[in-house]
Amino acid sequence: MCGIVAYTGFRDARPILIEGLKRLEYRGYDSAGIAVQSAGKLQLEKAAGRISVLEQKLATCEMKGTCGMSHTRWATHGAPTDLNAHPHTDASNRISLVHNGIIENYQALRTYLEHRGVEFRSDTDTEVLVQLIGHFYKNDIEAAVRTALRDVRGTYGITVICADEPGRIIAARKGSPLIVGVGDDEYVVASDAAAIVQHTTQVIYLSDGELATVWEDGFRTTTLDALPITKEVTELEMTLEDIELGNHEHFMFKEILEQPSAMEDCMRGRVNPTDGRIYLGGLANSARELVRTKRVIITACGTAWHAGLVGEYLFEEMARIPTEVEYASEFRYRNPVMDNGTVLIAISQSGETADTQAALREAQEKGALTLGIVNVVGSSIARETDAGVYLHVGPEIGVASTKAYVGQVLVLTMMALYLGRRRHLSQPDLQSYLSALHSIPKKINEITKQSDAIREVAERYKDAENWLYLGRGYNYPTALEGALKLKEISYIHAEGMPAAEMKHGPIALITKNMPVVFIATKGSQYEKVVSNIEEVRARDGRVIAVATEGDTEISSLAEHVFYVPDVPEPLQPMVTVIPLQLLAYHAAVLRGCDVDKPRNLAKSVTVE
Ligand code: G6P
Repeated sequence: MCGIVAYTGFRDARPILIEGLKRLEYRGYDSAGIAVQSAGKLQLEKAAGRISVLEQKLATCEMKGTCGMSHTRWATHGAPTDLNAHPHTDASNRISLVHNGIIENYQALRTYLEHRGVEFRSDTDTEVLVQLIGHFYKNDIEAAVRTALRDVRGTYGITVICADEPGRIIAARKGSPLIVGVGDDEYVVASDAAAIVQHTTQVIYLSDGELATVWEDGFRTTTLDALPITKEVTELEMTLEDIELGNHEHFMFKEILEQPSAMEDCMRGRVNPTDGRIYLGGLANSARELVRTKRVIITACGTAWHAGLVGEYLFEEMARIPTEVEYASEFRYRNPVMDNGTVLIAISQSGETADTQAALREAQEKGALTLGIVNVVGSSIARETDAGVYLHVGPEIGVASTKAYVGQVLVLTMMALYLGRRRHLSQPDLQSYLSALHSIPKKINEITKQSDAIREVAERYKDAENWLYLGRGYNYPTALEGALKLKEISYIHAEGMPAAEMKHGPIALITKNMPVVFIATKGSQYEKVVSNIEEVRARDGRVIAVATEGDTEISSLAEHVFYVPDVPEPLQPMVTVIPLQLLAYHAAVLRGCDVDKPRNLAKSVTVE
């Protein structure tokens, strides 16, 4: 969603700000803009559409200065037009602001300002905030920002610059991330580390209710009430290579291929088949409470919710803990019952999804122990949960989640084993799961080698308008995730469901034109899935199967088979999803879709 990059230092700001925006493109946006302090004035340029449109406008404009800020907007209040794009300025055109988040009481503030003669130029909630800052400004931009923020309800990550205070950036956050990159006599403030890493790996994560004032060669951090706070400067985990395409055409493909090494990184220091133990440092302090828990609620959105569903099966089977999975957007509003001893696990790649964050806060209000399974280090959910486990799979740039999904499932598997051993799982069983886990990266690598064969199948069916994805047990969440991948990036309609549910309605859709993808690996429900395949064949549906290597029976039933290596049933979700990621990827490329920036989607959804 929206992205912020601000710079102050000794270099020309404009190229740094534009380059930074490009690093944030993956998050999704529909307009972009830039403001630079230049010879005692603010110079602004904004454009609806891609950053390249903004660059075209900038080509004919002289914009020189060493302090400025830029923004990518994802429209909420007001259409994606030039006028509504950020930065916005106050009535005097001397103060400018970019904003991520939503000002909820913007209407009341707007009326207040209009009564005092302020004329608005856009339909946005953001303009209200900059006009309010302008209204309070008396030669001290920091003080004006503080005063204005006291009147604001809602969420914000903002940076503000003022023509009369050269080289100075004010940054503040509440519910929307901001990171200050600390360089040598230069600073980059951004909403995402991807815009900072090429300049410095030393960062400060601002927390809610904090404000940073940054100038060319120094900064200070304070609370909104101006109390000084000392923030720790930490080292970013990310490298520049992690966020560059290298020789690949798309981030999604790069990230699919990266999964073996990402899984190794995720297991490093945690899984030890030699001594038959599993270490999860992030859970050490809550282990006792966790082991005694009577009930686990997993909450998440989108792909992370699918990982949560796998978690439900794992926790119940391995640890015998009753587990429910809830969409965060539903959980947060329905006054859920949280008994004493309920543990809530929030799963989120970005750690910033608004609904997941709100669900987490709802559980905290009710006194639950909260855990996070998060990829982005230092993100809001990671910091607000009582304990948790990072994925450590590296930054995920492709909007369609791949390596983060498999990482989430892997972390849930490790957690289920960790708790399982402390409750019901025997040491030999744990040991054999650990050996199997250890070999997962190699097995994923083998599957990715089928990419070309999978592309041929994608070529054959890429024009089919409707697809079904079916699986049972551990393969049911994989069916949902396979269908979601196809929808997200190729815009083909696809439905995932438990294979047995097909006969309660969706079977009516099956014709000779309909590809039906079965996840039909060897396991406790294999025979039943084979019966479901027969039902589809009897109606002339086109069967594509994901099956276990060596299963010859399935090749006589399905038109196409993607084989995956044999792994214990609870570990299958980590391998069966790989061919489905590749299938969606190739279908989208063959249909000419923008794989890494699918229409209407955002990598991280920070609005309700
Ligand atoms: C967006 C993304 C999805 C993602 C979901 C949850 O909708 O497009 O790919 O699964 O948000 O994101 P999170 O960062 O919380 O895992």
